[in-house]
Amino acid sequence: MSASGAFLEVTDLHAGYGDARVLHGVDLAVGRGEICAILGPNGAGKTTLLRALSGMVRVRGGVRLDGMDLTRRPPDALARQGVAHVPEGRGTFMPLTVEENLRLGAFTRSGRRRGRAAVEADLERVCAYFPVLRARMRQAAGSLSGGEQQMLAIGRALMLRPRLLLLDEPSLGLAPMVTEELFRIVRTINEEERTTVVVVEQNAHLALGVAGQAHVLESGRIVLSGPAERIRADEQVARSYLGYRI
Ligand SMILES: Nc1ncnc2c1ncn2[C@@H]1O[C@H](COP(=O)(O)OP(=O)(O)OP(=O)(O)O)[C@@H](O)[C@H]1O
Ligand SMILES: [Mg+2]
Repeated sequence: MSASGAFLEVTDLHAGYGDARVLHGVDLAVGRGEICAILGPNGAGKTTLLRALSGMVRVRGGVRLDGMDLTRRPPDALARQGVAHVPEGRGTFMPLTVEENLRLGAFTRSGRRRGRAAVEADLERVCAYFPVLRARMRQAAGSLSGGEQQMLAIGRALMLRPRLLLLDEPSLGLAPMVTEELFRIVRTINEEERTTVVVVEQNAHLALGVAGQAHVLESGRIVLSGPAERIRADEQVARSYLGYRI
C-alpha cells in the first residue's frame, strides 16, 4: 500500500513518442477495487496514458501498483504483475479461434496460475461472463461481430486474472445496447472479483454511470477530477471540458 493508500498511484507521469511529448505530468490515484473513468477530447493522450500504465511507451515519473514501483517495466513484467490492457481496436488475433485467443491471454500469467486446471477453470469463468463466447469457441475471431470481438478482448484480458484492467474505448463502433451490456458486465466483473478498472471512454454518460471517480484529460494534463456522479450532474463541466453533452 502506498503512502496515499491508493492501489494505483501515478505521479508526475510524462510520456510520448520520440520527440513528441504527449503526457505532461499526470497525477492519478485509483483505490483498490474502484472503477476510474478517463474522459477527454480526441488527441488528449488517453490512449497514451493507458499505454504508459501497461509499459508500452517510455515514461518518466512514477507508477506504483499496490505499493510496488512499476515505472519503466516492460509490458510482460507488468502483465505478470496483473496489469491487463484491452487496447483501442481490441487487439484480438483475427485468424485464431476464440478459444486460442482466450488461451493466449493466460500465457503471461504468473507461474502458480499457469497450470492446466487453473486455465480451464478460467475459460469457464470467462464464458460465464460472456456466454456468447462459449458458442463461438472454435470460430475464427475475425468472424465475430464487433460486440463479440470486444467481449473476446475483455475475456482474453480476464484470462490473466488481472488486478488492474485497462480498457480503451470499449464502446467504439458498437450499438448502444451492446455497449450497455458490455458496461454491465464490466461492473459485474469489478464487483465479483474486485478488479480495479481504468476505462477510457468517449461515451462519457455510460462511463460515468459505472465509475466511482472520473478524470478529464486535456492536452496531456488532468484538468478535472472528482466523483463521477458529480461530473455527470454538472452540465457546465461537460460543456466546457468535454465539448459535448453527457
Ligand atoms: N504511435 C504514435 N507515434 C507518434 N505520435 C502518436 C502515436 N500515438 C499517438 N500519438 C500522438 O499522441 C497524441 C495523443 O494521442 P492519444 O492516442 O493518446 O490520444 P487519445 O486521447 O487516445 O485520442 P482519441 O480519443 O482520438 O483516441 C496525439 O497527438 C497523437 O497524434
Ligand atoms: Mg485513444
